[in-house]
Amino acid sequence: MSEKAIIYSVPEAAMKGAHVSGMPAYLKLVAEADADHGAYWGRLAREFVSWKTPFTESLDEREAPFFKWFEDGTLNASFNCLDRHVERGQGDKVAILFEADDGRINRVTYSDLLARTCRMANALKARGVKKGDRVVIYMSMSVEGVVAMQACARIGATHSVVFGGFSAQSLRERITGASAVMVITADEQLRGGKQLPLKAIVDEAMALGGCESVKDVIVYRRTGRQIAWEASRDRWMHEETQAQADTCDPEWVGAEHPLFILYTSGSTGNPKGVQHSTGGYLVHAAVSSTWTFDLKDDDVFWCTADIGWVTGHTYITYGPLAIGATQIIFEGVPTYPDAGRFWKMIQDHKVSVFYTAPTAIRSLIKAAEANEAVHPRSYDLGSLRILGSVGEPINPAAWEWYHQHVGGGRCPIVDTFWQTETGGHMITPLPGATPLVPGSCTLPFPGIAAAVVDETGNDVPNGQGGLLVVKKPWPGMIRNIWGDPERFKSSYFPPELKGYYLAGDGAIRDAESGYFTITGRIDDVLNVSGHRMGTMEIESALVSCTALVAEAAVVGRPDETTGETICAFVVLKGPRPTGDEARKVATELRNWVAKAIGPIAKPKDIRFGDNLPKTRSGKIMRRLLRSIAKDEAITQDISTLENPAVLDQLMERN
Ligand code: WTA
Repeated sequence: MSEKAIIYSVPEAAMKGAHVSGMPAYLKLVAEADADHGAYWGRLAREFVSWKTPFTESLDEREAPFFKWFEDGTLNASFNCLDRHVERGQGDKVAILFEADDGRINRVTYSDLLARTCRMANALKARGVKKGDRVVIYMSMSVEGVVAMQACARIGATHSVVFGGFSAQSLRERITGASAVMVITADEQLRGGKQLPLKAIVDEAMALGGCESVKDVIVYRRTGRQIAWEASRDRWMHEETQAQADTCDPEWVGAEHPLFILYTSGSTGNPKGVQHSTGGYLVHAAVSSTWTFDLKDDDVFWCTADIGWVTGHTYITYGPLAIGATQIIFEGVPTYPDAGRFWKMIQDHKVSVFYTAPTAIRSLIKAAEANEAVHPRSYDLGSLRILGSVGEPINPAAWEWYHQHVGGGRCPIVDTFWQTETGGHMITPLPGATPLVPGSCTLPFPGIAAAVVDETGNDVPNGQGGLLVVKKPWPGMIRNIWGDPERFKSSYFPPELKGYYLAGDGAIRDAESGYFTITGRIDDVLNVSGHRMGTMEIESALVSCTALVAEAAVVGRPDETTGETICAFVVLKGPRPTGDEARKVATELRNWVAKAIGPIAKPKDIRFGDNLPKTRSGKIMRRLLRSIAKDEAITQDISTLENPAVLDQLMERN
C-alpha cells in the first residue's frame, strides 16, 4: 500500500463537530483504552447505556475465554432502545421510516414503536413465553420484524432470527438447535414485486419433525395471500396484539443474559449459533453507531442490510435505536423497479449516512454505466454526509466510484471490518478522524486490540501478512456457541494463539501507516455477495443427494460483482454426464442445494469428473480445484496426484 496508496485526508466538514474529531482525539481514546482496558469500556458503558442496577466490575476474566462484562449490572435492551428516548421527550421523533417494496411509506415514532413493542411483548407473555425462552423470527424486512426482536428483548426471551432466504431444512435445524418455543413469521414476503412464501416454509420445516418445542406460530399478515392454517398452533399477529395493553414493564436482566443467537457458517460442520450478551453487546452497538457513523440528532441513517444478518441486528434493531437515531428500513431490493432505487430513496428521504455492501455497489455500477437514468448523478444526493461499506473487502475501483459518484467526493467512506461473532465494528475509520486509503479498513476501533500474528501468536512485522487476531476481550464479543462451549473454545481461542481471539481472516498492516487490509478468509468459508457460507455445508448438502452424488468438493471463485461465486466439483454415482445431460443434472443439484440450505447457496458452476484430484493419501487437493475454478493454467506440482486424467474433465464447463 505504501508507495502508490492514495490517501484522502479528513475533510474539514467531516471533522467539525464530529463525535471523534481529528486524529489526536482518536489517539487519546486508544491511549485511554491501553492504559486501563476495563475502566475505558466501563466509562463508555455508563455513558451510552442506562442500567437498572449499576455494575461494579467491568471485566471478569476468571473463566477465560468465557469472558464476562459488567456482570452484576442489570438492564433491558428494549428499555434502552425505546423508553429512555420517550422519557427524554423524544417520543415524537421518527424512529423508523419504512419504505415498502411498492414505495408505500410508513413513519413510526419512538412512542409508536414503544407501544407496538409493548403490545407484542404482552402477546408473547400471554402465550407463555418467558425470560430465557428462545423465539425464532423468520421474517422479511419490516417494522414488525424489529418489533418482534425488541419484544423478545423486553421480556428477556432470546431471539434467533433466521434470514428469509434460508430453506425449510435450515430453518428446522435452527428451530431445533435452539429448542425454540415460538416462531414469528409472515404470510409472505414482498421483494422486487414478487411474493415469496414464508409461512409455507415454516409449515414445511415443522413437518420435517423435531420442532415439538414450538407451541405457537405467530403470523404477520403482509400480503394477505391465502395460506395453510393449523388452528392449534397458528395465530395472526394482529389478533394476538390488538387487545393487549401498550405498556409492558421491561424484564431487567443481568448483563450477560443472552440477548440473541444468530447462526453463521464456520469452516467445518453445521452452522454455529453465535450467542451474544445483553449489556456488553448493547454498549458496543451504541458506541460504534455513534462514533463510526458519527450520528447526530438530525441525521437520517440508512443501513441496507437484512435483519436476518448481524449487520441488521447491530446497525438496525439495536445500535441506531439505542442512541435515538432516525433510520430508514427498506423492504425491497436495490434493482426494483429499477437500479436507481437506492439513489431515489436517498434523495426522497434526505439520507445523510448510508451503509451498504460492496456487492450492491458493484452491481449498481454496472447498471449505472449502462443507463444514465439510474446513475447516481441523475439524483440529488446532496444530503449525504457519510458512506459506509460492510461484509466483504471493497476493491479500490468500487471504493473510488462510491466516493465520487455517490458521495460527490465529499463524504468519508467507513469501510467497517467486523463479523457476526464480534457484535460490532472492529477495524474501521472514524469519519472525522481517520485519513482514508481505498481498500483498507484502516485502524482498530478504539478499545479493540486487533493485531496480525503468525501461527504461534507472535506479532508479524508490518508489511507482512498473517492471521488477524484480537488480543483482549471486548464487550460485544461472542459469548459462546449455543450449546457447544468446546467448539467455541477451539474455533475462536486455539491454544497455540496465546488466548487471542482468532477472526478467521488473514490481514496485513501497511509498513508505514500500520493500516489494516483484510486479505480474505483463511479457512473454508466463502463470502458470496456478502453472505457467509461454509464450503463444507454445501458439500454435505450435495452428498446428501444420495441418489445421485458420490462425492463433492466446493471452492470459491473470485467474482467481479459478488466477491466470490460457488464452484462445485461433483462425482456422480452413475457415469459422468456430458453436454445436455450434464446441464440437466447440474440444474437438479442446484435445486437440491436450494432446498437443503437456501437459494443463496446454489453453486453457480458445477463440474463433473470420474473422480476428484486427490493426493496419494486421499486428500482432496482443494488448491488445485481453486485454480481450475478460476480457469487458470495449472502450475502446481501435480506429481503426487493419483489420477491426473480427471483434471481435463473438471476443466470442462457446463
Ligand atoms: C468479511 C458481517 C473485508 C470477513 C459483518 C469476515 C470483511 C466476514 C469486511 C464476516 C470488510 C466483513 N472488509 N472483509 N469491511 N466486513 N468482512 O459474519 O471475511 O457475515 O470474517 O459479518 O466477512 O461475515 P459476517
